[in-house]
Amino acid sequence: MDVTLNRISPEDRKNPPESMNGVVFGSVFSNHMFSMVWDDGIGWHDAEIKPYQPLVLDPSTLVFHYGQSSFEGLKAYRNPSGGINLFRPRENFARMNRTAQRMCLPELDIEFVLGALKQLLQEDSNWVPQEEGTSLYIRPTKIAIEEALGLKVSSRFLFYIILSPVGPYYPEGFNPVKIVVSDQYVRASPGGVGEAKTAGNYAASNLAEKEAKAEGFTQVLWLDAVERKYIEEVGSMNIFFVIDDEIVTPQLNGSILPGITRKSVLELARHWNLKISERRISMEEVQEGLKSGQVSEVFGAGTAAVISPVGQLHYRGDSFQVGDGSTGPVAKRFFEHLTAIQYGREEDPFGWVETL
Ligand code: COI
Repeated sequence: MDVTLNRISPEDRKNPPESMNGVVFGSVFSNHMFSMVWDDGIGWHDAEIKPYQPLVLDPSTLVFHYGQSSFEGLKAYRNPSGGINLFRPRENFARMNRTAQRMCLPELDIEFVLGALKQLLQEDSNWVPQEEGTSLYIRPTKIAIEEALGLKVSSRFLFYIILSPVGPYYPEGFNPVKIVVSDQYVRASPGGVGEAKTAGNYAASNLAEKEAKAEGFTQVLWLDAVERKYIEEVGSMNIFFVIDDEIVTPQLNGSILPGITRKSVLELARHWNLKISERRISMEEVQEGLKSGQVSEVFGAGTAAVISPVGQLHYRGDSFQVGDGSTGPVAKRFFEHLTAIQYGREEDPFGWVETL
């Protein structure tokens, strides 16, 4: 399938922000987007790069009612020679295909969409920002667009990719965040869709996050839905603990999102011969470890969040400071090396980076 190119007119062409300072994450969009449509019996068709524009959808469109959808988040980085680096983009499209299986969405041809993404990035290459700590956030999205009110698997889908220049995800920047552990609400349960990157998981976490923010916390740490005992993830990132000399993260269990940054942290740790373990971790173990000092660091990992140190955990009315509340050496090492590979400042021994 060819990708039709329909360039924005010179009078509508916008310039990227001069500085990303003060620009809220995901609030500014580039000049173009990619889209294509799926119809049962036909497959994907009408692949197009076109001016960024609103979607016109009938009020009965299935996605609005039953949430049949999926999205991804990946980034393009400005490298030292002025080129553009993509970080593990095939991993995102492969995960999108796994989400597709769970959510009854049509899968993508990974090489085709990656080629389309690269073409889109060439069109809007001046939107990849230069400043330290900034990147171009890429949001592939797939939604059910058949017009119907009956609950069913849609026969028509829209896939699109939009681009947004971003700085840090959290208002704290890359400084430690305060997180509250929720034992009242759950994000995902066994047999559900927690490991799929689909809208409903995020909608389900909104109330707890709204309440957390009102109390001065940045995010919510979710526990398992059955025993409300074992740590799962933060919703916007996976979570890691440094316990004694070991780096520990909850093992994937079907309700935790299999993060690509999570996977990269584990692969980096193995490469450095650090002790790592993917296992069940109870909140009680973390609480005791924070009191005794055995838990010396807590940090999150995600595409948007990068490596985000946690300075304070709040659980059942008690607050626990992590270490001295500042960014620890392990989180700092992961942040520095992961970002150095992403931005092309350091050699990539893993073949994670694709340069345009
Ligand atoms: C990402 O990290 O890219 C995500 O999709 C998480 C989202 C909450 C911004």
